[in-house]
Amino acid sequence: MSALTPRPATEVAPGAVHVPGWLTPEQQRELVAACRSWAAGPVPIRRTRLPRGGVMSVQTVCIGWHWQPYKYTRTAGDVNGERVAPFPGWMVQLGRRALLQAYGDQQAADGYTPDTALINFYDGQARLGMHQDKDERSTAPVVSLSIGDTCAFRVGNTETRTKPYTDIELASGDLFVFGGPSRYVYHGVPKVYEGTADPACGLRSGRLNITMRVTGLTDPEEAQ
Ligand code: SIN
Ligand code: MN
Repeated sequence: MSALTPRPATEVAPGAVHVPGWLTPEQQRELVAACRSWAAGPVPIRRTRLPRGGVMSVQTVCIGWHWQPYKYTRTAGDVNGERVAPFPGWMVQLGRRALLQAYGDQQAADGYTPDTALINFYDGQARLGMHQDKDERSTAPVVSLSIGDTCAFRVGNTETRTKPYTDIELASGDLFVFGGPSRYVYHGVPKVYEGTADPACGLRSGRLNITMRVTGLTDPEEAQ
């Protein structure tokens, strides 16, 4: 689709809202710079190993809490044992603004305090199979931001990883929020359209996706 054609915000399913072009190019570049720094450490970006021996094609780095199949921890025992970078206050604010934009509910936005983000980098061959985000102990919405190459994003149903599903395109700067009745929808990335990114986003190739979540966990070492 032409960059000159505005793409309207749509509710893909109840509680699943797509807001195209939400991030300005400058905000995208700032996020790319932050992600580059997190990718370098303290826990470097890597392909996650799956319990049955496979390796994900997507490369991931986490902040706030470290995700590995299928739990969150403060330290990355499956990578280098280091504690992940803290979740910055500015990203909490960004998550709140995203929620307000998607749902128009100020109270829900004010009460939203994401404490982890999974930052996924997709090269042209990377894919993400249909799955549910269910390792969090909170039903709070997931806020997703996309930068770089456009992808096909599959929004399914809460019962099975198969049809019915809706395929949408997530392009650079797009916001996607899934909560409420869609919090546990199966979703995935079947295709990345290589070379579709505008370099003004800060990425020359590939796709970056940031999903902010509320883990619902407390760190025993931080308990008062
Ligand atoms: C995810 O499901 O965790 C990532 C989704 C995406 O890359 O858009
Ligand atoms: Mn997911």
